[in-house]
Amino acid sequence: MADKVRVGILVSGRGSNMLALSEYKRRDPDRAYEIVLVASNVPDARGLVLAKRLGLKTWSLSHKGMERHEFDMKVDAALRERDVELIALAGYMRLLSPGFVDKWQGRILNIHPSLLPLHKGLDTHQRAIMAGDEHGGCSVHLVTAELDSGQVLAQAKVRILPRDDPESLAARVLEAEHHLYPATLDAYAQTLREAE
Ligand code: GRF
Repeated sequence: MADKVRVGILVSGRGSNMLALSEYKRRDPDRAYEIVLVASNVPDARGLVLAKRLGLKTWSLSHKGMERHEFDMKVDAALRERDVELIALAGYMRLLSPGFVDKWQGRILNIHPSLLPLHKGLDTHQRAIMAGDEHGGCSVHLVTAELDSGQVLAQAKVRILPRDDPESLAARVLEAEHHLYPATLDAYAQTLREAE
């Protein structure tokens, strides 16, 4: 068994959380994880460009025209090819098929920009503001077949200010995400190793 937990990151967009996970590891190589693959369903995602610049191994395939399960099995094969042990979803804008989630039970983490179980799904900041919530925030959780519903591992709260709109709140929450995700992934990777 490898010393560090081998992590595959799935991205669909700008990849700022992927970058944060990578930077955290670069600053302290003793972290319990190493990033061995950044994969995407969007071949021209900015996250992939960033990953390449960082010297990370990348893989991409457009999901267009493919059945969800068929596509997920291609992703699964790419991850296994790199001996990935733990998956970090970082702005991965695809629902995962139940078969994929089953194969990776307890091995997929996601970051969601709300204080789960509040505001699952999209437009979380808008909904938090409209609901009159005092805080927005973000949650790192285990992925199960049901959207944004797996066990929450860690959360960070961000106060909602009277002048906030969804964009200003999203920007502050994103900063919190960049601290919360790497620390939580590292702690989870340690737990996995200790359980072996
Ligand atoms: C983040 O807000 C994350 O919480 C959500 O999607 C966004 C991804 O942003 N799941 P980035 O691609 O990591 O910059």
